[in-house]
Amino acid sequence: MRISEEIIKEIIDKADIVNIISSRIKIDKKGKDYIGLCPFHNDNNPSLSVSPAKKIYKCFSCGAGGNVINFVKEFDHISFMEALKIVGKTVDIEIDTDQKVDQNMLRYHSLMEEVTKFYSVYLTSTNEGQKALAYLKKRNIDENIIKRFKIGLSSFDNDLLYREFKDKYSEIDLINTGMIRSTQEGSKYFDVFKGRIMFPLADFDGYIVGFSGRIYEKSDESKYMNSFDNVIFNKSNILFNYKEALNDIKKLNFVYVFEGFMDVIAAYRAGINNSVATMGTAFTNEQIRAIKKITNNIILCYDGDLAGVEATKKTINLLNSFNINVRIVLLPEGNDPDDYLNQYGVNNFVSYLENNTMSAFDYLYKIYKRTLNIEDINSILSFKNKIFDVLASYKSDMLNEIAFKRMSDDISLNTDVIKEDYLKHFSKTTYRTQIPEFRKPAAHKTVKKRQKQQYLLCEKKLIFLAYQNKDKCAEIFRKLSFNYVNETHYLILSKFNNYYKTSQKIEERQLKEILTDKELEVFNSIINQKLTFRNDQDIDFFVNKINEYINELYWYRKKTANKDIDVEKYLKDLGSKIKTRNDIK
Ligand code: CTP
Ligand code: MN
Repeated sequence: MRISEEIIKEIIDKADIVNIISSRIKIDKKGKDYIGLCPFHNDNNPSLSVSPAKKIYKCFSCGAGGNVINFVKEFDHISFMEALKIVGKTVDIEIDTDQKVDQNMLRYHSLMEEVTKFYSVYLTSTNEGQKALAYLKKRNIDENIIKRFKIGLSSFDNDLLYREFKDKYSEIDLINTGMIRSTQEGSKYFDVFKGRIMFPLADFDGYIVGFSGRIYEKSDESKYMNSFDNVIFNKSNILFNYKEALNDIKKLNFVYVFEGFMDVIAAYRAGINNSVATMGTAFTNEQIRAIKKITNNIILCYDGDLAGVEATKKTINLLNSFNINVRIVLLPEGNDPDDYLNQYGVNNFVSYLENNTMSAFDYLYKIYKRTLNIEDINSILSFKNKIFDVLASYKSDMLNEIAFKRMSDDISLNTDVIKEDYLKHFSKTTYRTQIPEFRKPAAHKTVKKRQKQQYLLCEKKLIFLAYQNKDKCAEIFRKLSFNYVNETHYLILSKFNNYYKTSQKIEERQLKEILTDKELEVFNSIINQKLTFRNDQDIDFFVNKINEYINELYWYRKKTANKDIDVEKYLKDLGSKIKTRNDIK
């Protein structure tokens, strides 16, 4: 069923926005409207206003705003349809969210199936494929594994896939599914993935909706390239191996979650199939909900490096908030599961997983103890405070007792002293044993503007397009999915996007109200730059560039998390790389 605009309008009209918002956050009446602390940013002054007359909410500080359905969607972290269903219930309008499969989807799914087949034939029966197969063999990926995970190969040719598929599918279909893109003039098409080993990515229902491509020869391109979000692919909705692992997860009633899909493949080689991987991003609510449908027990097994530990800490908090039982495997430093398996073999790998799984508390304790130096009073106090904070989040007297005892051994203090200190730690008095610590300045804070010019230009062009047209603005905002190079640019875009929720057009004179002085200044300078455009595909091109930049930067930081990084040099290289490609004029 397609939900008509009228039904949506009727639900918004009938719904009691004040009632629905106040059941989620505290709001107080002020005149005709209501105000409260905005839940969408870190608000300490009530800046959220709810207007029952206009049936909208708006935050004057962060710019969030919209109708009651938007609020429920954002606040509950659910899809628009789910929010519509919830709000519809309050006014006795039933929404059937089992939408009929749209004809386009059927076509996209078969397109992706065929592309997958094409890539797999290309891997197994061409000369180019021999090199890729040799690489896979070196990584202990044999024929069976290749079949099971439908691994394939994209050629180095510029447009082989396009030429192969153009008679059967339209250019638009191939562009929409992220398989080809056009030149800026729109006169020529070329393949998105070139010279990469292709790993198909399926959605929760098992339909192939995208790919991750890995380089297999020396190259200065990024190690992995994933499909960018498009009509069928949404990386926050992907858990590698989910559908295939479903039955094993149910049967064993727990799931291993890895950082990389190569680790899932490694686990499979060792006979473990109840495992999934996120696509190199933090866990999203959608992914957690998909897991929660089949099991409530997760074993996290992230890389043993610093970045892996940081990701694990964050994920523990997130999973706790979903009431999921989480246990952790602590891998030796510098190893990911795939490395471990290749180094020590199947038996050691399996027994490592079995014997090194610990509770989240034990894990955190171990991690914090790693940096404890009992010769150094700062270190002891900081260790103690970190453990106290963890204990506070569990609120368990028994756990407290166990932890105090353990701490007493580790820092050679009497348990009673620690206990007393714990009670004082959270009392309202100012007592807190904090001694300021010396920190190394963060290296990546200083990023010179000059080096980001090329990416900033993409962002400016997007702002220009968003300003002119409501639909384009929504499209851009959605496609960027919270990525940005320059924060002010992003704020301008998000304010335009919010403004369009209640109007059709942005008049020049309204800009003063929508933007802050600083933002207006930036916006005016963009308008005065006389930017050039070619055709509509610009949006995807610019968005992809920005995503590419974010992705590159993210992985670079992750890789160098515990080294001293020369980010400035890195960005400069990145900047010159893109400039020489002559992509952006
Ligand atoms: N990733 C990415 N882009 C990169 C690097 C990584 O999108 N440039 C994502 C991939 O989904 C990858 C995951 O992050 O599966 C984990 O990254 P990493 O640990 O670096 O990769 P490995 O799984 O170790 O892959 P390999 O062994 O092939 O290096
Ligand atoms: Mn690896």
